[in-house]
Amino acid sequence: MLYIGVDLGTSAVKLLLMNEKGGIEKIVSREYPIYFPQAGWSQQNPEDWYRETIAGIKELTSECDKSQVAGISFGGQMHGLVILDKEDQVIRPAILWNDGRTYKECDYLNNVIGKDKLSEYTANISFTGFTAPKVLWVKNNEPENFAKIEKIMLPKDYIAYMLSGVHCTDVSDASGMLLFDVKNKCWSKEMLDICGIKESQMAKIFESYETVGTLKADVAAELGLSTSVKIVAGAGDNAAAAVGTGTVGDGNCNISLGTSGTIFISSKKFGVDENNALHAFAHADGAYHLMGCMLSAASCNKWWMDDIIGTDAYAEEQKNITKLGENHVYFLPYLMGERSPHNDPNARGCFIGMTMDTSRADMTQAVLEGVAFALRDSLEVARSLGIKIERTKICGGGAKSPLWKKMIANIMNLKVDVIASEEGPAYGGAMLAAVANGEFASVEDAAAKLVKVIDTVEPTPELVAKYEERYQKFKKIYPAVKALFPEIA
Ligand code: XUL
Repeated sequence: MLYIGVDLGTSAVKLLLMNEKGGIEKIVSREYPIYFPQAGWSQQNPEDWYRETIAGIKELTSECDKSQVAGISFGGQMHGLVILDKEDQVIRPAILWNDGRTYKECDYLNNVIGKDKLSEYTANISFTGFTAPKVLWVKNNEPENFAKIEKIMLPKDYIAYMLSGVHCTDVSDASGMLLFDVKNKCWSKEMLDICGIKESQMAKIFESYETVGTLKADVAAELGLSTSVKIVAGAGDNAAAAVGTGTVGDGNCNISLGTSGTIFISSKKFGVDENNALHAFAHADGAYHLMGCMLSAASCNKWWMDDIIGTDAYAEEQKNITKLGENHVYFLPYLMGERSPHNDPNARGCFIGMTMDTSRADMTQAVLEGVAFALRDSLEVARSLGIKIERTKICGGGAKSPLWKKMIANIMNLKVDVIASEEGPAYGGAMLAAVANGEFASVEDAAAKLVKVIDTVEPTPELVAKYEERYQKFKKIYPAVKALFPEIA
C-alpha cells in the first residue's frame, strides 16, 4: 500500500509518497505566495494551498500504481485562521501563525481576561499567532466578515475538508487555537464564549491517527484515485515532524529549522510550564508535548542570503565560515517579532558588534548563530523546569546544513541525531496515514520501526565552552534593546 503525507508549509506544500515499509518513493514540492500587506502582517490564500496540493498529488502519483494509494494525511502550518461562509467560500485570506496584528486582542486576553484563566481553560496563554486572538481581531475589525462565519478551521483542515467534506481537526493542531481545552481534549466553552463563537462553527476533533472520512467522489475522479482512500486527521506541522523524526513517547526532543524554529519535547503526561513560556499541547501520538517556537529561523538565513546578499549558493557561502565560536557579531533573529520565550510582537531583527574588519562571512555566521542562540532560550526554559535533555533529532530545511547542525550541537550542548530524511512533517503525515490503515499498532510502533538515526553530531567541550561565553552575551542584548522596539516598529 502507498501513503501520502502532505506538509502544508508556509513557503510551499511538500508531498511525500511512502510505501508500507516506510520507504520514500517520491517527494514533490510546490510553492505559493505569502503576502505581507502591512509590517508584521502575514496572509495566504487557502485556495492557493488547495490548488497546489491537488497539482502536487497528481505529480506525486503520476508514476505509481494509483490503486495502491490507501491514505492521505497531513502536517500543517499551525494556528492560521481560515473562515468559510454558508456556501463554503473562503471569506478572507488566512491570517497566519507569524502574523503580529493581534497585539491588542492578546493584551485583552492576557490582561483583561487574565493569563490564569486562559491557562486554566486551555493550558496556554495568548500569543499574537494563536487563533483565538485572530477570531477576535476579525470580530473587532471586520464585523461584516465575522457575521458571515459558518466554519472556523486551521490550514491543513481546510485541505482535509476539501478532500473529504468533513469539517475536522486533530488534537495537536487544535491545541494551538487557544480555544481548546488541551488537558481534556475538547473545545473550551469559556473560550468560545469569550470569542463570541459557537461550538457548531468549530470542527469535529480527532486524534491525529484517526480516519475522518474518505476521498470525495469528484476529487477522487480528478486525481484518478479510489473513493476508498482514507483521509486521516494528521497533525500540526511540529507534532507531525516529531512523528516523522521518531520524537514520541516520553522526554524526547526534536528541533525543527523551518520558516519557524521549534524545540519540541514529547511527554506521556499532561503538564504546563507555570509561566506558559512554552506551549503545552497535545501530541500526535495520543499524549502531550511542550514546545518553544521562534517565528523566524531558516527564514532568517533565507532573507539574508536571497534578499540581502543576493545568492542562492547557501553551502558555498557557509564554506567561508571558519572560526566557529569566535564571532564578534551578534544577530537577533526577530524579523517577524518573537514568540518563545519573549512573546513580543514588536521585537525586530538587529546586528550588533560590527567593526571595520567585519566580513560577510562573520555576518552570515551571526545569522546562523543568532537562530541557534534564540532556540537555546527556549531550551533553557525547559531545563529550568527540571527536564533533562541530552540529545535531539533535527529536521526542516535548515537541517540540510552540516555547519548549522554543528552550531546547534555546541550552542545547545546537545547530541544531534540525524535521521535519513529531513522531511519531518510530510513523513510524519504519511506515517499517520499508515497507522490509521492498520499497518502499525500505534504511532510509537510506527516510529520505532521506521525512523533510523544515520549520524550523530556530538558537541565538543572546547566549542561548547566558547559558545557558552557567547550565549551569555547574546542573552543580554534583547533586554538591553527591548524598550526601543515599540518606537521602531
Ligand atoms: C508553531 C508555529 C509554527 C508553525 C509553522 O507554534 O507557529 O511552527 O506551525 O508552520
